[in-house]
Amino acid sequence: MSDPRNAVIYRIHDAALEQAVRRYGGGRLIDIGCGKKPYKALLQRHIKEHVGVDRAGGLHGMDAVDLVGTAYEIPAPDASFDTAMCTAVLEHLEEPSEALAECFRVLKSDGYAIYSVPFIWHLHEEPRDFYRYSKYGLRYLFEKAGFEVVELKALSGFWVTFGTLFLYNLYRFNRGPIRRWHALDPMGRALGEVAHGLDRLDRTEQWTWMYLVVARKP
Ligand SMILES: C[S@@+](CC[C@H](N)C(=O)[O-])C[C@H]1O[C@@H](n2cnc3c(N)ncnc32)[C@H](O)[C@@H]1O
Repeated sequence: MSDPRNAVIYRIHDAALEQAVRRYGGGRLIDIGCGKKPYKALLQRHIKEHVGVDRAGGLHGMDAVDLVGTAYEIPAPDASFDTAMCTAVLEHLEEPSEALAECFRVLKSDGYAIYSVPFIWHLHEEPRDFYRYSKYGLRYLFEKAGFEVVELKALSGFWVTFGTLFLYNLYRFNRGPIRRWHALDPMGRALGEVAHGLDRLDRTEQWTWMYLVVARKP
């Protein structure tokens, strides 16, 4: 069963990602900072090949990694991919502009880059957690790299963002018998759904936890 803390945000994120890949993606896809390639099954019917690149010694293991490299130096020729995807990685890169320039290099012309990037989220994978991005910063960085921004979507409002962060904080106490008996889980699930419902009624995107960016290489 999914983790109640992030069941709602994963549902929102996965739906937005799949919709973007279905609409703009296809062919050979490079998944930059692929980790365990959690979206492989979700996306496989929309693309021909899912190639993952990640750095050696990453926290997520190397089982799903096809190319060992970094976001700054992808071991692939220029213009060798139709689609690039990069989920929850940009905040971990010291030099985001260099990474976007490298993504631009490996994409074919008229290819699309699809990124998810957090705005309001706690520190994670420390100490390699460098930045959070506003929609203005993202547009600036993508355009500076030569991309045309086609979509830039906030994935939540206040309620989902802070409902989820509340749950993450609450689950610090999920240990011992509380954890064994799954005592927090029903409340966690219910709170997630209530937050999702409130977000639909009262959408305040300046509080988004995450943006989804779709950018085209002209
Ligand atoms: C939060 S995880 C996200 C993994 C995966 N994209 C996902 O959505 O589950 C961040 C990923 O970025 C990778 N990463 C960090 N720095 C990197 C770099 N300089 N080049 C390539 N990947 C990097 C990490 O190894 C890790 O797999």
